[in-house]
Amino acid sequence: MKQYDLDRIIDRENTQSIKFDHEKSQCCLPMWIADMDFAVADEIVEAAKKRAEHPIFGYSYLPDALFDAFIRWHRIRHGIEYRKEDIIPYYSVVAAIDLILNTFTQPGDNITIMSPVYVYFWEALKETQRTALASPLINHDNRYSIDFDNLEACFSRSKVFLMCSPHNPAGRVWTHEELERIAALAERYDVMIIADEIHSDLIMPGYRHIPFSSLGSKTADRTITLLSSTKTFNLAQAGMSFMVTQNRQWASILRREMCRFHLGAQNVFAAVMVQAAYEHGEDWLNQVLTYINGNYLLIRDVLTQKMPEIKILPLEGTYLIWLDCRNLPACVTDFFENQAHILGEDGSLFGPEGAGYYRINIATPRRNIEKMLAGMEETYRKCGCRRS
Ligand SMILES: Cc1ncc(COP(=O)(O)O)c(C=O)c1O
Repeated sequence: MKQYDLDRIIDRENTQSIKFDHEKSQCCLPMWIADMDFAVADEIVEAAKKRAEHPIFGYSYLPDALFDAFIRWHRIRHGIEYRKEDIIPYYSVVAAIDLILNTFTQPGDNITIMSPVYVYFWEALKETQRTALASPLINHDNRYSIDFDNLEACFSRSKVFLMCSPHNPAGRVWTHEELERIAALAERYDVMIIADEIHSDLIMPGYRHIPFSSLGSKTADRTITLLSSTKTFNLAQAGMSFMVTQNRQWASILRREMCRFHLGAQNVFAAVMVQAAYEHGEDWLNQVLTYINGNYLLIRDVLTQKMPEIKILPLEGTYLIWLDCRNLPACVTDFFENQAHILGEDGSLFGPEGAGYYRINIATPRRNIEKMLAGMEETYRKCGCRRS
């Protein structure tokens, strides 16, 4: 099996990287926005090069082989059988959230989310003038769980649940039982589910992602799942995602809306890169997941031994660690950004329940993790925090 060099530090300067060109990245280690610092699988680069060798980039359609690769990936990886007619390629997951909200809901409609949650969920609701009903996740003994009584109260007044599964930033991979309870509530209150499963391939050893629409055909009928190779294979700017729904009526309404605004054409390079990723990216992804889990375990050990006032939430999925810093004497941005020179994201960006937490992207070579830990440890000592 080919071994990928994930320890390699790749200079991202002059690549218009949002992560690295942030003004604070000049003085901080950039560990914020969710892309990886690893080179993508060689086959993806080769596919793009091969396509570039043909000197005509005229109007084109997506080949069946792309859909076949997507379907096969989800069958093998997650045990779910998607049908080609249920799959609607789109630009990005975030753009799909807006399209779905604008198509199926009205300004002022209540939309349930769980807080803390991916910043853009809040922004999407604000931009589309929908009302967020935020159900707080409960951090009990350093693990998040769903407050089902509260979620039920939100569902009873909502049209849509915008779900994040696995959950960014809580790091949870929802269990079968949790998903079943959500599905039962959605059925009782006739709530549409937008299942943002963009992180579903980023699962740590010992956990398993369960696609929400695999819970049964009634549940699948009220669900639009959002998927993308962009998080999985580090192709954030490739510009391709997928909306998947077996609800024929919803699928045709979405296709009609896309036609109305001429929103269908896909970039020729996105198509070949995404196909190559699903066809050849498995070994790369498996190695990346093992590596990220190694980063997580190292951070967890160092925090436990040397910085016990900072608690790391168990990383079940995603590559975004969520640190509970509520016991630190300093505010989180001051601790990480001004003193330790690490640029992650202040937890309060993810909702009021995120205050006192900090999110860090650990999809980066081990040397950066060691540098991050050294910066944190020095700051921790200077803060006069208690050592174990
Ligand atoms: C839950 C979630 N949804 C969507 C996105 C962004 O997706 P896209 O780049 O396809 O718009 C992210 C990026 O971090 C995310 O965490």
